[in-house]
Amino acid sequence: MPVTIPLKTSPEVIAAFEKSYHVIAEDLLHDLEHKYKMPAVGVQRMRQMLEHNVMGGKMNRGLAVVDTLMIIAQAQGKTLTEDDIFRAHVAGWAIEWLQACFLVADDIMDQSHTRRGKPCWYRMPGVGLEAVNDALVLEGHIFMFIKKHFRSQPYYADLVDLLHEVAYLTELGQMIDMLTAPEGDVNLSRFSLDRHAYIVVHKTSYYSFYLSVAMAFMLSGITNPAAFDQAKQILLPLGEYFQVQDDYLDAFADPSVLGKIGTDIEDNKCSWLVNTALARCTPEQRTLLDTNYGRKDAKCIEAVKQLYRDMQLDQEFERYEEASYKRIMGMINGIDKGLGVPPEVYVSFMNKIYKRSK
Ligand code: FPP
Ligand code: MG
Repeated sequence: MPVTIPLKTSPEVIAAFEKSYHVIAEDLLHDLEHKYKMPAVGVQRMRQMLEHNVMGGKMNRGLAVVDTLMIIAQAQGKTLTEDDIFRAHVAGWAIEWLQACFLVADDIMDQSHTRRGKPCWYRMPGVGLEAVNDALVLEGHIFMFIKKHFRSQPYYADLVDLLHEVAYLTELGQMIDMLTAPEGDVNLSRFSLDRHAYIVVHKTSYYSFYLSVAMAFMLSGITNPAAFDQAKQILLPLGEYFQVQDDYLDAFADPSVLGKIGTDIEDNKCSWLVNTALARCTPEQRTLLDTNYGRKDAKCIEAVKQLYRDMQLDQEFERYEEASYKRIMGMINGIDKGLGVPPEVYVSFMNKIYKRSK
């Protein structure tokens, strides 16, 4: 069967996905009131907490489950039932819920101010460090609604296991990220391109790229472990490439196009740019980095940016981008077709990120 790759998720698919959020959220709230006899004050707070943290993102990760399932069904010549689509929505929302849980906790650790154009949840009046519990509650919700909608499926145990493992790997990435760049302690000797790769693959690639495809495989009846391994081999480097773009855009993109002002330099982030600079710099340039990186001072930030320009890191990035594109497309074109996964699954991800400007 020929497979067409939609350039963008259609508005109808997005609207249906959003509608399922309300079904899942209302169901959780209903259970709180009736099954768990939670006092009204708690139910109200939970509603507010869900609206603040789960909704309002771009939903790329959740929608990728639906898009991937549709591509695989097309290739198999199968028509998806309403139940199939709804289950893909529930799996997609599990990723969005997981991300909400991570971000609530991460914003506390990073002492961030805003997220998705709103104050971070822990900065909302009357929330504070209760947000630590809320992050854990968000994680708990996932396993409650996954049980409700998947427990009679043959892959239920595998799905739960996948969610646990991906959450764990993300937490390992977060741990190494924090040990590499602890708050208020700038020490660039802890940084390296290898350390950057470890952090990015664990903290971002697994839950942002691999998880949605692995879930769509389960929903499509794909069970061969080799198919999951192949997905990892392609999607973990793709996620790494995506994060390197993110790091590059943070310093080099026009903020009006990017939609935000980058803060990686003053935030002491273990970014691809600083690691590439560290790998190539002269002793004088190294001193400049040591004295200016990770400081919330406009002059220091500008000195680092000037160094990035002097070292022509924009051209270095272009070379990286072309090499990554070639390498990953090579892997996609060489996949083992016998595993039942059409290459379009991976091409659709690449199309969304290659040469992105925001
Ligand atoms: C954002 O990173 C952080 C993540 C996507 C993952 C964080 C993972 C955890 C906090 C694990 C916590 C787990 C539980 C169960 C509570 P960033 O700070 O680099 O990105 P940002 O600029 O979006 O904040
Ligand atoms: Mg953060």
